[in-house]
Amino acid sequence: MGLKLSRRQFVGSTTALSLMAIIPRGLLAASSSAQKVVVRSDAEIGAVRPEFHGHFAEHLGACVYGGLWVGKKSPIPNIDGYRKQSVEYLKELGVPVLRWPGGCYADDYHWRDGVGPVEQRPKRVNIHWGGYVEDGSFGTHEFIGLCRLLGAEPYLAGNVGSGSPRELRDWIEYCNMPSGSTLAEERIKNGAAEPFRVRYWGVGNENWGCGGWMRPEVYANLYRQFSVYIREYGGIEPFLVASGPNGNDRRWTRGFMDTLDGGVPGGLSMHYYEGGPDRSTEFSADHMSQQLSIFKKVEDAVVEQRAILDGYRDGRKVGLILDEWGVWDKIPEADEKRYGKLWMQSTMRSAVAAGLGLNIFNRLADKLFMCNIAQIVNVLQSLLLTDGPEGKSCIRTTTYHAFALFKPHRSKTAVRVETQDASPLGVSVSASKAGEELVITLVNPRHDADVELDCTIWNACNTFENPNSVVLQSQPVKMEAARLRMELPRLSVATVILKTE
Ligand code: AHR
Repeated sequence: MGLKLSRRQFVGSTTALSLMAIIPRGLLAASSSAQKVVVRSDAEIGAVRPEFHGHFAEHLGACVYGGLWVGKKSPIPNIDGYRKQSVEYLKELGVPVLRWPGGCYADDYHWRDGVGPVEQRPKRVNIHWGGYVEDGSFGTHEFIGLCRLLGAEPYLAGNVGSGSPRELRDWIEYCNMPSGSTLAEERIKNGAAEPFRVRYWGVGNENWGCGGWMRPEVYANLYRQFSVYIREYGGIEPFLVASGPNGNDRRWTRGFMDTLDGGVPGGLSMHYYEGGPDRSTEFSADHMSQQLSIFKKVEDAVVEQRAILDGYRDGRKVGLILDEWGVWDKIPEADEKRYGKLWMQSTMRSAVAAGLGLNIFNRLADKLFMCNIAQIVNVLQSLLLTDGPEGKSCIRTTTYHAFALFKPHRSKTAVRVETQDASPLGVSVSASKAGEELVITLVNPRHDADVELDCTIWNACNTFENPNSVVLQSQPVKMEAARLRMELPRLSVATVILKTE
């Protein structure tokens, strides 16, 4: 909702703009009084990098095959093999950055398996995700083609666990060297006259787990070795992303940085999932609150990991990347059989979770570099769902709509917000400004503990039969002098855009 506010009222209030978020009566034990929220439009935090709204696509279930890529001969409407509806929805939302091919899959992926004539590409078993035979038909060229269609910055995850420094070195040359070398000429022969200009390169993934089950010191030594062979081609300086901690694993980050002893990476990839014990559409109230409370820990973890990095020589130069995040609910086998591995519905609870995460990124804009939700289509907290890899339907999830609500923040400057209730389930708010526009996003993660729970609220989702049961709608707000009053219903995500005159 846009509001008109005079410049004097807005700018003249040099200290703060007050905003009242009212919790409806009867919802909370202490809910009768309005909760005060202060947006300090004068206290800048840092840029809301569009990369905070980044994405991740892995060769897992129906994410790549079926979700993004259906093949050129598919009866499903496609653009040169890419699922048309997915491309359209994602383009509309805007995908600032896309990470591929994993995940765990990355450390068992050999890029050469995915270039050259499709029929000659070797067939490999995807050992991490279901043991199906992967035909390599979606490889580097196909990925770059998708990024170009979406306008996304490509982010390739290299193989450290079962790969070699040479393999990563060659992949970078193949992608970025304009012409003249054997690898560049091979890319040109394979149909890409223009270099791919890939800037972001992951050096392994979760090398504490599926990426080789290493100790941080072992991984740090490998990182040092791999990084020696990385070069700039065609003016593109590779930005290396090292494998970072699982959640707030301080030992990993310290062990890595201690052993590294200089030569810091451009980024450190931290993964933090918010698990839940119930099936997505069957969450109990308690489990929902437990899951949503994890976001407070995520916020603390980012602050702490940033502080650890900052304590090292050149540590401040390392961009902290929340490379995989999102709710990870219980996934019944029957759903996986029908729709694909890790296929998960996104409910109103998931939208609230997305809003909590995205608000944190704004509030910690000075501490983060990039954040990629897991994953873009059909896997975990996805933006889109298809009814199986071969299904014709493709719908936008509640998480998609939550991302859409945060889009106005992109490239603005995050500003401080003070809230009364700092508890994990307190109202979550963030704000950003640019020119005459102030964007405020508000999330209420509470449900009514005192009244009968209305399961349709947090288990509401978009289904193939009813793809628009959760959509964006406008909410009335009142402006009184420099004070904004609005009702923020339980389990809701909202954006307010104020315009000065
Ligand atoms: O996103 C699913 C998996 O979660 C990824 O493959 C891995 O990196 C993480 O454990």
